[in-house]
Amino acid sequence: MLIAIDGPAGAGKSSVARAVAAALGVRWLDTGAMYRAVALLVARAGADPRDERACAAIAADARLDFDARGELSIDGHLAGRALRSREVGSIVSFVAEHPAVRASMVAKQRGFARAWKGLVAEGRDMTSVVFPDADHKFFLAASSAERARRRAAQENVLADPERVEEIRREIEQRDAIDTGRACSPLVRVPDAVYVDTDALSERAVIDTLLARIQGGP
Ligand code: DC
Repeated sequence: MLIAIDGPAGAGKSSVARAVAAALGVRWLDTGAMYRAVALLVARAGADPRDERACAAIAADARLDFDARGELSIDGHLAGRALRSREVGSIVSFVAEHPAVRASMVAKQRGFARAWKGLVAEGRDMTSVVFPDADHKFFLAASSAERARRRAAQENVLADPERVEEIRREIEQRDAIDTGRACSPLVRVPDAVYVDTDALSERAVIDTLLARIQGGP
């Protein structure tokens, strides 16, 4: 059972993928965490995130693994919150743009799929490049305004319209990078089921995916 989910930043892919994997009794593969891990290693090494050769060497050497809960470890140590730091956030899109870094990550991702015999993989290029033959493919979408509203709610700043607007602009910048890069941009492949999550609760999105996977309406 191989399920591939793509979508822009903030569309709720991770929570949905984790819940769908749990309901199906298979593993969850958070590929964004892998690119974040490489970015963290690049920062720790003091390497230049725009230097493809340096980043590719770090990516090729990185020993990345996931525990049964889907938490990533680097060289046997849980990476945890470090993956979400500002520093990692500010360089990860440069690191993820290098074809040689992506080639390493794609090989590791396919290796996980072989080893785990079933997974729900989420990212930007799961349906298009990494697992084009997945059993089920989904594209989770949401408007930038709605994604900004959700992020602002998490940060408890919904009452501050300027901050919400700032978050919306950041989200649109990330969308432009994700969809505009030369190598494996975020695309909506024709055979992926498109789920517009704007008006749906997280539970409703999870149920929509499970219904499709389990052969419902
Ligand atoms: O989903 P996320 O925010 O954790 O992703 C972190 C970064 O990695 C983001 O810049 C997009 C990139 N990414 C990618 O290029 N390909 C993937 N399959 C997953 C994430």
